[in-house]
Amino acid sequence: MKNLENIKGSRVYGRRQGKSLRSASAIRLDQYFPKYSLSLDEDGGLDYENLFNHKPKEIWLEIGFGKGEHLSAQAIANPNVGIIGCEPFLNGVSGLVDHMDRESLSNIRFYMDDARLLMDALPDGFLSRAFILFPDPWPKKRHHKRRIVSPGNLQVLSRLLKDNAELRIGTDHHDYCRWILARMMENPDFTWQDHGPDQWHKRAEDWPATRYEKKALEVGRKSTYMTFRRKPRYS
Ligand SMILES: C[S@@+](CC[C@H](N)C(=O)[O-])C[C@H]1O[C@@H](n2cnc3c(N)ncnc32)[C@H](O)[C@@H]1O
Repeated sequence: MKNLENIKGSRVYGRRQGKSLRSASAIRLDQYFPKYSLSLDEDGGLDYENLFNHKPKEIWLEIGFGKGEHLSAQAIANPNVGIIGCEPFLNGVSGLVDHMDRESLSNIRFYMDDARLLMDALPDGFLSRAFILFPDPWPKKRHHKRRIVSPGNLQVLSRLLKDNAELRIGTDHHDYCRWILARMMENPDFTWQDHGPDQWHKRAEDWPATRYEKKALEVGRKSTYMTFRRKPRYS
């Protein structure tokens, strides 16, 4: 799989590869990489005007899509939307490719590396929606700086999201949930859309479940589903 040798060695905390892939999955990955994976040029640039075969109505981004359950379900439900997923974990990308293959999905592009590298290559107001679902909680205090929901990353998302665009964040981790809300409240560009526990403990119908959410449910952990809106720039 020669494409995989080109992955930039950016600082992503967590696994890049787990169990070795079944040969059918490895063959599928080889087939899908040239057509559907995104790569940055040497200067970190991306030909973002021509990511999809047809110009999508909107472009959405999912950061850390795991094995791609949510991403592929959104791609099925929204065929006119182009969805970019970022996930450095090879077995996760393989899971997504299996979904794409099974459902014949062509409105997905994936970037198998640190989402922050890709986000830096995108222009202002490029995205109509973004998802960060069950991000790694990094519970130890000394690891909090690894959390993907950080003031710097929220600034980047604020730059990338169109006026009134949604940012959806889900977590089953109580402390990270409080952290996320605090970081979101500190950022003047977002408003929280949920109005009480009835809303934030209930996943919206157009918010498909993820693997991590299901795992949390199995061990009795409640999840929180937060929706934020990017405020209009000039209001
Ligand atoms: C706890 S898992 C959740 C996966 C999936 N969203 C779910 O809910 O099932 C967090 C995922 O984020 C990915 N991740 C961590 N840091 C990342 C980064 N900088 N860019 C993109 N993905 C990242 C990890 O590889 C992992 O698959």
